[in-house]
Formats: sequence, structure tokens, C-alpha cells
Amino acid sequence: MKRTILALQPILDKEMWRLEQDYNVLRLWEANDPVSMIKSNSNDIQAILSTYNSSGVSDRLIKALPNLEVIAQFGVGYDNIDLGAANNHGVAVTNTPNVLTDDTADVALFLMLNVARRAVEADMFVRVGRWHSGAMPLSTSISGKTVGIVGLGKIGKAIASRAQAFNTNIIYTARSKKDVPYTYYDDLGEMAQDSDFLILACAGGAETKNLITYNILKKLGSKGYIINISRGSVINEEDLLIALRNQTIAGAGLDVFASEPDVPEEMIKMDNVVLSPHVGSATLETRSKMGQLVLDNLNACFEGKPLLSPVKLAS
Ligand code: 8YV
Repeated sequence: MKRTILALQPILDKEMWRLEQDYNVLRLWEANDPVSMIKSNSNDIQAILSTYNSSGVSDRLIKALPNLEVIAQFGVGYDNIDLGAANNHGVAVTNTPNVLTDDTADVALFLMLNVARRAVEADMFVRVGRWHSGAMPLSTSISGKTVGIVGLGKIGKAIASRAQAFNTNIIYTARSKKDVPYTYYDDLGEMAQDSDFLILACAGGAETKNLITYNILKKLGSKGYIINISRGSVINEEDLLIALRNQTIAGAGLDVFASEPDVPEEMIKMDNVVLSPHVGSATLETRSKMGQLVLDNLNACFEGKPLLSPVKLAS
């Protein structure tokens, strides 16, 4: 008999098809009554396929599934999963690191280039015919500037090497100093003060919630830009709005927001902001690899083999 998986959101068709060959997949997002779908299958569900943009995996959901063995997250971040509850109930958690590093780092760079060189505005300038009335206002150089990276994990490092190719000076702050040729700051405020571009590449969750306050943005200063590809929760969005409104900072490039898919109305109207809809990993190639890694983790779990990418739970 096939094992039952509760899928909170879909993955790409090809990997979904493969998943459905081997497992009985409950498609929660298609259910008319999701609660009764979970209730009527609670004893059968042995795995959850979760995604960041799904309803989350709470203590309550974990408790409601007595035979749950694994939560396989389609994504590298897992701040939507109650890890403590998973740990307490002996449920393993896996994620999809590595396969999405390059694409996510690319998005940080495209936001940085876009906001500083006014790329979205430049495209509009041509399309609406404003070029006929004169040249576009000047933009800001990237070359020679200092890029401060918050969080130097795999994605942070991939951002650093890309930014270096644009002749920038790289500085960083992280939980600890790394063996890298970039200058380490243990004080975020000091690093913001020395940065022209502050790029957020840290994990989300309680530890980094509201890390970026008005005070930090003030230190980044009126010529500084903030770029966020991590989680919206890392920035206090109210403070960011004030800083953008008052030109306390020069601008922002944002792929993630506090309450996705809602973006503050005021921010949508601002011309010193470049916005993208959480697309760090959103390429066909990467989403396919993420789906395959989800499958491989699930198969490993049920074949009693070591998980490919387990999330470390408290011991
Ligand atoms: C999402 C992400 O997982 O990997 C992450 O942490 O935020 C993204 O890749 C993706 O949008 C699917 O929800």
C-alpha cells in the first residue's frame, strides 16, 4: 500500500507526477474543506510536503498526525515550521539547500543593479517615450562601493563572489567570523555605517526578526541601499517605509516582505524601490532540483536511509 503524504502546496508537474507514482498524495490546496481532509486522513499521513508560502506547519498540525515521520520543506528556509514541535514528536525535517544558492544570489545582484542603475525606470523611460524629451536622470555607480552582507552562509558567499566581480569591497556580519577574505564586523550598526549596499542574506525566524530597524537604516545613510532576499521579517517594514519616505536611505531592492503577497500600498508607489515577488529560487531549473531533493529525502526516510539534507533539530 502506498504511504500517504500531505502536500500543502504543489511542486512542479514533473516532480509532482513522480511523487504521485510512489505515494498517495493529499493535495491540500485543492481541498474544499482542508480541515476535514486532514482529520479524515490523520492516522495515515506519514509525511508533509511543505513550502514557505503555505499555511505553515504548526505544533497543532504535528500533534494531529500521530504517524507523521518527516516534514520535507520545498525551500532552504524553514521558519514556517515549528521545529521544537517536530523535535518533541520525533519528526524529522528536511529542506532544499545548495540547489537554489546560485539563483537566489543572482536575484540579490539583479535587485542591487536594478535599484542603483534605475533599470526598471530606464525601461519605462523608453517605453513611454520620455527619451524624446531629454536624457534620463543619472543613476548610481556600483563599482568602487562597499557591499555589506548580513549572513555569510552559502547564499551570502555566492552574493559576495558575484558582487566582487562588480569591483566592490565586501564586508560582512554573521554569527561568527569565517575563513574568508572579507572584513568581518561583529556590530551590524557599524557595518551599516560603512556600507553603500546592505544585503540581507541571513535566515528568517525569531533570531533575526526586526533585525533591521530605523536606527540601522539611519546608519546606512542617505546614499545607502538595502537589498533583501532573505525574509521580510528581518526588516521592520514600518521603519523601512519611514526611511524610504524621508530619504533616510537612497532606496531598496526587495524580493521578500513581512506579509506576502501583501506589499504596503505606499511602497508600491515609491520610485526609489525595486520590488519582486519572492522569486529567489523561482526558475524552472532550480524549482525542479528542489522538487527532486524533496522526493529524494522522502524516499530516503521511508527506505531507512540517511536523509540527504536534514535540518538540525535541537538535541
Ligand atoms: C521558497 C524560499 O521556498 O527557499 C526558500 O527559503 O523562500 C523559496 O525558495 C519558494 O518560494 C517556495 O515556497
